[in-house]
Amino acid sequence: MDNEKILVTRSSMPPFEEYCAEIAPLWESHWLTNMGEKHQALEEALETYLEVGDIALFTNGHNALECVFEAMGLRGKVITTPFTFASTTHAIVRKGLEPVFADIREEDFTIDPASVERLIDDETCAIVPVHVYGNLCDVDAIQRIADEHGLKVIYDAAHAFGVFRGGVSAATFGDASMFSFHATKVFNTIEGGAVCFRDPSLKVLLDQWKNFGITGTESVEYVGGNAKMNEFCAAMGLCNLRHVDEEIEKRRHVAERYWERLEDVPGVRVFRPAQGVRHNYAYLPVTFSANEFGASRDDVYAALMARDIHPRKYFYPLVSDYECYAGRFDSSETPVARRAADEVLTLPMYADLRDDQIDLICDVVLSARG
Ligand SMILES: Cc1ncc(COP(=O)(O)O)c(C=O)c1O
Repeated sequence: MDNEKILVTRSSMPPFEEYCAEIAPLWESHWLTNMGEKHQALEEALETYLEVGDIALFTNGHNALECVFEAMGLRGKVITTPFTFASTTHAIVRKGLEPVFADIREEDFTIDPASVERLIDDETCAIVPVHVYGNLCDVDAIQRIADEHGLKVIYDAAHAFGVFRGGVSAATFGDASMFSFHATKVFNTIEGGAVCFRDPSLKVLLDQWKNFGITGTESVEYVGGNAKMNEFCAAMGLCNLRHVDEEIEKRRHVAERYWERLEDVPGVRVFRPAQGVRHNYAYLPVTFSANEFGASRDDVYAALMARDIHPRKYFYPLVSDYECYAGRFDSSETPVARRAADEVLTLPMYADLRDDQIDLICDVVLSARG
């Protein structure tokens, strides 16, 4: 048991027969992509699950984010967080926008609204916050700031599938929210993503931007790309959606067991969901304060790797410290984010992680103190 390899995540899959039954009609229709029946059915099922009026599906979350920026016609500066996955900033830069990094909040590592407000100038067009680890941003403060300054708010909700606050779906905040359905996410379509949005007229635009900018049988009005979800991915989504609540419940059990073992250890911090939030337990972030705990995050990482347990430094390095952005940003201007990147480790988290595996992981974490 001790030498069993444990990866940071493990994709959820439906029963094999269920997926086979879902894709069988494709051998009749021969309709494999371009907004077919499965695509349509998944859009409808997700509208119900996420409690939104409309949704647009994509090949992945990253393309979804790029398309929503294009469809909204953004120009200028975008205030965002450096404590995120490469995709958030890359999408901004690849669409010719200028990222401006705000700092994050100590308590949940989401963007700090006060820091956002300080950075707004005449060229700012939007705020792109991230619901990091499924922890919801301070959506009320962010909306107040956006309304005051006439800015768009596009949430990177890649981590926040199935999260509700006071019964309100995370998909309804801001002007738009992007979700990732990547294989490693709580809900997956193998590769995939979606955008939920407030203005219904965005639906047609998003569907055109993701399909080469084609607007009619003989008209192409935008220089769009190709970001259409195919039927096999949509079918995977239809199957996984039937099991997602069970998936989240199993993850809750995993998270509770970790927290019981780790939360009272001096120098260790775990992240319990905020009051009134139905969380999705997408990740298991833990921070290690080296002085108090007696070992650094990197020491814990090394101890786990030595036992063939694979955690992830998620997110490290900060986006503002990436080689591809060398000389453009100064990460010392976001000190909370910098410390978070140095102290955080996400431990293995998936629905079927066994109790004995969690206990082993916690034992190894604690043994890193020497
Ligand atoms: C915060 C964040 N934003 C964006 C993405 C991009 O999503 P995708 O991998 O579906 O393109 C991811 C995930 O991979 C993510 O974690």
